[in-house]
Amino acid sequence: MRTVFWEDNKVKMIDQRLLPGEFVIAEFGAVHEVARSIRDMAVRGAPAIGATGAYGMALAAQQSQATTRDDLLADLRRAKATLDAARPTAVNLSWATTRLLALAEATPSREVTDIAHALLTEAEALADEDVAINRRMGFNGAAVIPDGAHILHHCNTGALATVDFGTALGVVFACQEQGKKIHVWVDETRPRLQGARLTAWELMRAEIPMHLIADNAAGHLMRTGQVDVVIFGADRVAANGDAANKIGTYKLAVVAKENGIPVYCVAPTSTVDMELAHGDLIPIEERGAEEVRQVGDELIAPADTPVYNPAFDVTPHRYLTGIVTEEGVCYPPFTESLRRAKVAAEARIETARQARQP
Ligand code: MRU
Repeated sequence: MRTVFWEDNKVKMIDQRLLPGEFVIAEFGAVHEVARSIRDMAVRGAPAIGATGAYGMALAAQQSQATTRDDLLADLRRAKATLDAARPTAVNLSWATTRLLALAEATPSREVTDIAHALLTEAEALADEDVAINRRMGFNGAAVIPDGAHILHHCNTGALATVDFGTALGVVFACQEQGKKIHVWVDETRPRLQGARLTAWELMRAEIPMHLIADNAAGHLMRTGQVDVVIFGADRVAANGDAANKIGTYKLAVVAKENGIPVYCVAPTSTVDMELAHGDLIPIEERGAEEVRQVGDELIAPADTPVYNPAFDVTPHRYLTGIVTEEGVCYPPFTESLRRAKVAAEARIETARQARQP
């Protein structure tokens, strides 16, 4: 089962807001609905958002009333703006919509239906690539995880955060496939509890030994020698290796360094934004006050308590031992190693696209 997929001319996805209580496939047949599914986090996790954006562009092409190529391209540019605005930090979203728009612009046919068909084929290819990339990345990452390791993990980076398999949790799944004995400390990840709701659900289904911990327990575990390695994903990695990920990641990395524990960020090259020189340039999404004032539907603070709710933080690259990508593990200096990985990945995408040409 994929987290997001195309069926019956609709974008379908596991509604992650309802897990672990209910497993429901939500479906969306209009671009503004797809954008809302991203904003409201029915789908979340940077690569899953990217694939959803790609399917959103395919949907826009299918639904366009345009009869000329120029009018279709104008509709697609509007759809891209709507989708990109849904969540600002995960660069995979605009990376995917840019890729689909560029393909439409480069399609030689002037027939609207040919362009729409090409976009759906590209969105499907992007989703398939995501799964293949995650498996490669998982096995690249497994090489740096010792047998018997106690792994500290933040947020949800599993199959649910991608089309399938996952990023940092993909490393955990790869370790399991290799027969390594591992144990995962699962940060609950306030305020939206992606660790408690989603990572715990995925690891228990996979029968991987784990314990859920309150976020505040992580420092204690690291200082008392109960963590061998810290791993997490990213929503955007700047050219110098600074990594934006779920709020709370930064302090994990700082405490890990203080305690001599290796820290790996696991992110596909689509998450690497070479346009941004450093992490202070990464836009940080702020979300609604209710996420902090409430747990689920239950109010845990006075109703009108003022709240500040940044959804991501930036971990400066000096705290990272390595960045695991589908092209291998990048080590400092990251500006150089990430650039090489990005070039290799782009060449791979181009080769695959040429192989798909009739
Ligand atoms: O707000 P979310 O749940 O979309 O945040 C997700 C994360 O922070 C993940 O760690 C990140 O997207 C990378 S993993 C696939």
